[in-house]
Amino acid sequence: MLTLGVNIDHVATIRQARRTVEPDPVSAAVLAELAGADGITVHLREDRRHIQDRDVKLLRQIVLTHLNLEMAPTEEMIQLALEIQPDYVTLVPEKREEVTTEGGLDIISNFHRLCGVVDRLQSAGIPVSWFIDADVAQIEAAAKTEAIFIELHTGKYAEAKQEKSQKEELAILDRGCEQARSLGLRVNAGHGLTYWNVYPVASISGMEELNIGHTIISRAVLVGIERAVREMKIAMRGE
Ligand code: PXP
Repeated sequence: MLTLGVNIDHVATIRQARRTVEPDPVSAAVLAELAGADGITVHLREDRRHIQDRDVKLLRQIVLTHLNLEMAPTEEMIQLALEIQPDYVTLVPEKREEVTTEGGLDIISNFHRLCGVVDRLQSAGIPVSWFIDADVAQIEAAAKTEAIFIELHTGKYAEAKQEKSQKEELAILDRGCEQARSLGLRVNAGHGLTYWNVYPVASISGMEELNIGHTIISRAVLVGIERAVREMKIAMRGE
């Protein structure tokens, strides 16, 4: 059964805009689980622009489904993961100046170092997922690291403007999923998926989990705004 990992980073983005205590991504995780989320995903970035260390530590305690920690394969993050023990880790590339994760990780160029990262995390009981493009050579390299999962980067599919290029990108994801599974990898996908483009990716055979964030938090802001305004009017009346 295909599962949904809800990425709650952007709840923290709103909080960090004011460096205050609301909205708390930990509360968002509880509500997401009540609504049926199968997992909670957060990206602890080196610059701490949204999720903070405190969030991940609290989430580890309260998440009842599974906690997927997205992080760069740096020493600082490895130490944190070993301490916090998420249910799995998704290793992503990270550039300070980027608005969001821009591309999949290049496993091939850093193969030996990255094999060591998988070994350290998986020896400590934390399964590893590689966030990579659906590229034949990268998928082969991912399998050779002995990681349990890959997460296929769906950004190119999501950004494709024409139906033809969207179909081509979908076919690449489909083939990537099949190749990965034939090599014994479990396959997730995510990035840029929306209410409008999710279904074809959700229909790819063998896909296990979709990690989706921005579109869900965007919709939450809009579907919640009427109630929030009504409740402020009530608060102003002292009721
Ligand atoms: N998967 C990975 C590896 C990501 O880095 C992100 C963004 O943090 C997502 C999934 C979710 O992407 P989006 O917010 O576009 O749904």
